[in-house]
This record gives sequence, C-alpha cells and structure tokens, in this order.
Amino acid sequence: MDGTLEAIQKSFELHGRKEVIQPSKPVIRWGGPETEETRGRIMTMPSYLVGEIDVAGMKWIPSMPENPRKIGQPRASAIIILSDLHNGFPLAIMNGTIVSAMRTGAATGIAIKYLANPDSRTVGIIGAGVQSRTQLMAVTGVFKNPIEQIKVFDLNEEKTKQFVKEMQLELNVNVVNVTSAEEAIRESDIVITATMSTFPYVKGEWLKEGAFHSEISFWDTDPKELVHYDKVAMDDFEHVKHHGVNLH
Ligand SMILES: NC(=O)c1ccc[n+]([C@@H]2O[C@H](COP(=O)([O-])OP(=O)(O)OC[C@H]3O[C@@H](n4cnc5c(N)ncnc54)[C@H](O)[C@@H]3O)[C@@H](O)[C@H]2O)c1
Repeated sequence: MDGTLEAIQKSFELHGRKEVIQPSKPVIRWGGPETEETRGRIMTMPSYLVGEIDVAGMKWIPSMPENPRKIGQPRASAIIILSDLHNGFPLAIMNGTIVSAMRTGAATGIAIKYLANPDSRTVGIIGAGVQSRTQLMAVTGVFKNPIEQIKVFDLNEEKTKQFVKEMQLELNVNVVNVTSAEEAIRESDIVITATMSTFPYVKGEWLKEGAFHSEISFWDTDPKELVHYDKVAMDDFEHVKHHGVNLH
C-alpha cells in the first residue's frame, strides 16, 4: 500500500498539472446507471501519462454484482494493457483486479492525507467486501498516530464477522462489528461507504463535526444530505458526471 499511495499521489499531481490525456470512460451497461448495482457493467478506462512517465494504457473492468453470492468469486475482475508509444505494441497485458482495488484504497488514502483531521482515531466503514479491505489498508497507512478503532457494518452478517477477524489480524487494530450504518458513522472521524447498495441510507446528521467521508460506491448518500457537508471534493468532476450518478 505504501508504494500504491506514492503512485496515486504522483498520478493526481500529473492530473492536476493536466499532464494526462484521459478521454471519458465508456461504460457498457444493460440499462440506466442504477442497473450497475443489479445487472452489472463493463467500464473501460483509457489514459496516457505525459512526460516523465510517458506510458499509455487501459483498464477493462467488468463488474458482476452476483459473483460473490452465486459463484464465490469477486464482483470485479480487471485486465490492464500498457502500450509502447514508439511502436504501439503491448508492454504488458496483466491482471488488474488487485491493482484496481489497491488504487481505489490509495485514492481515499491520499484524500485523507490532505483533507481529514490529522488526529483521526476512529473509522466507520459500511461494506465488508473487496474494496473495504484496501480502503482500510490505506487509512491505517497514512496517519502518524495509530487508528484506535474501526467499526464495520454490512447487511451480510457472516461476511462482516469474517472481515472483522481478517482485518483485525492484518492491521493490528481493534476492529468491531456494529449492527447499523448509523452506529458505524456516529462518532467516527473517518467514514467510508463501499457497498453495493441500491438505495441511499446515509444521514448527514449522523456525521460528527469535522468528520471526513469517502463515498466509494455510488448510491449510499442522497445528494440532499450534502447540506450537512462543508466541502465536497472529487478526483475528476467530468468523469464522475459522465458516470451518470445524481450530482445535484
Ligand atoms: N469510486 C471508485 O473509484 C470505485 C472503485 C472500485 C469500486 N467501487 C465501488 O465500490 C463498491 C464496492 O465494491 P466491492 O468490490 O467491495 O463489492 P463487494 O460485492 O465485494 O462488497 C459489497 C458489500 O456491500 C454490502 N452491501 C450491499 N448493500 C449494503 C447496504 N445497504 N448496507 C451495508 N452493506 C451493504 C454487501 O453485502 C457486500 O458485502 C461498488 O459499488 C463498486 O462499484 C468504486
């Protein structure tokens, strides 16, 4: 995760300096944006990092929401292609599933580094899936002072218990299972929502003053709750807009 945080910080810097060519990502879906959480989707993310890195590539990432329940496999699976810019031939065609999950964790990590209260001690996370693992790896990797407690809520109780056990061992932090999203969010310095929820459930009034919330999935927080937030930051507004989620 330390290496991923470094790479993501660098790529955000290049993005901020407009040293990237990044066309809007095409999405294959079988209905409106809301069907991504039920039927699934395939996203394609092409990009070129100009200058010192000078590499072009693409991530092809199908998401099949029923995979964990039906076949015991992850929801998302990715392939990454990197191309040699002199002759156009592939430099690499590689598995991108773990790279992608690590990247998403590190994106939250970098946001926390610059936007969250540096004295944060408590994390509330909703969702006990693949993304939540790398989210927690990043959160516990960026602070100087250790995180003291992580509260986890997921609709699937069995999955939550397993997640709590694994994360406790891996991160060496007190990780506990709570019984509602509200309980996970209240009194937490850092809140992360990484679910496959098809409906909004986050209430802005649950958030503690000065809390930081990373919305990884798309439907957890109704835009009308944003009146409770002082600042909203995105990595790339055009790309979020293009995805078709409600931004009012
Ligand atoms: N923003 C980004 O850059 C980015 C990147 C990758 C993934 N994602 C999103 O992250 C989300 C999670 O992905 P994943 O791979 O961890 O999925 P996953 O299927 O492994 O886990 C999702 C978990 O959410 C739980 N859940 C569903 N509805 C819930 C609710 N209302 N309350 C509590 N728990 C609920 C499920 O039981 C499941 O355990 C997806 O929506 C995905 O699209 C976003």
